Amino acid sequence: MEKIILDTDMGIDDVFALLLSIYSKKIDLKAVTTVEGNCILENANKNALKILEMSNCNNIPVYSGMDKPLQVEGVYAEYVHGKNGIGGVEYTLAKTQVEEKSAIDYLVEETSKYPNEITIVAIGPLTNIALAVQKDPDFVKNVKRLIIMGSAEGAGNVTPDAEFNFYRDPHAAKIVMESGFKDIVLVGLDVTNRIPLTKKLEEMLLNINTELSKFLYKATRMGAEFDRNEGLDGLILNDPLTIAYLIDNSVLKLKNVDVEIETDGEKRGKSIIKNSDNSNYKFAYDLDINKFYKILFSEIFPENTEIINQYIK
Ligand code: BDR
Ligand code: CA
Repeated sequence: MEKIILDTDMGIDDVFALLLSIYSKKIDLKAVTTVEGNCILENANKNALKILEMSNCNNIPVYSGMDKPLQVEGVYAEYVHGKNGIGGVEYTLAKTQVEEKSAIDYLVEETSKYPNEITIVAIGPLTNIALAVQKDPDFVKNVKRLIIMGSAEGAGNVTPDAEFNFYRDPHAAKIVMESGFKDIVLVGLDVTNRIPLTKKLEEMLLNINTELSKFLYKATRMGAEFDRNEGLDGLILNDPLTIAYLIDNSVLKLKNVDVEIETDGEKRGKSIIKNSDNSNYKFAYDLDINKFYKILFSEIFPENTEIINQYIK
């Protein structure tokens, strides 16, 4: 079992990533740490607590993290995720609360208690991770590996050059990339843009017809409309690809790269990816699309494999 901490800004595709890490028997989700990004931090916390409660996983703690980028002004992605982060779907708040300890202290302390055992999966801006790097010089060596949803070798989704997570906190992305983690896997838009929640998959969610599938269908309406207006085939399922990779490595094809981050000006948040055989940073350049969809939906809806098999070959 892969022990992970999920660092998330709890937008709508983050919900899929959180559910996948809760439901998969190959993932041992130790905790959720939140960061501001897709929505304000308070909503990210509420969303994380709610999804855990809905999944009967109240025992998994949520640690609240940083509510602004290191140096630049915060931007949000309400046009995809709604003001509350989950497509404007209203819900009664979970009964649980976030922990007292901050996400940054938790990240530092937990990885130092279990050096080399914990994988951090970062699917929001990298603010918490950069602050943990700055807080404790041993943090970088204590982390087993870091899987990041961020970057774009080709086109961005906020500006022509930049992907949202790196754009929102480019200084954090730069600190993380330059801090010498022993193993980083970067999952960027070049692969995630190829995994929309298509019309067919939306129909599958409706046919599965459980509370959870109906909730996911509703929560993805706003993002689906936005992404379709952008010429994509449906809401892009960026974040769960990181977890699917941990469940089955063969879902991604990786190449060794050096990464540079632009922090200022028009190209803020751009990632410059250069092939480099000597680097221990890996970048996803291709994926098995059907394998991804199969993993995602059959792990989250194990009782509905018959329906899933009709839609995903
Ligand atoms: C990333 O930014 C957010 O909108 C998504 O949740 C994902 O983490 C994609 O650029
Ligand atoms: Ca995210």
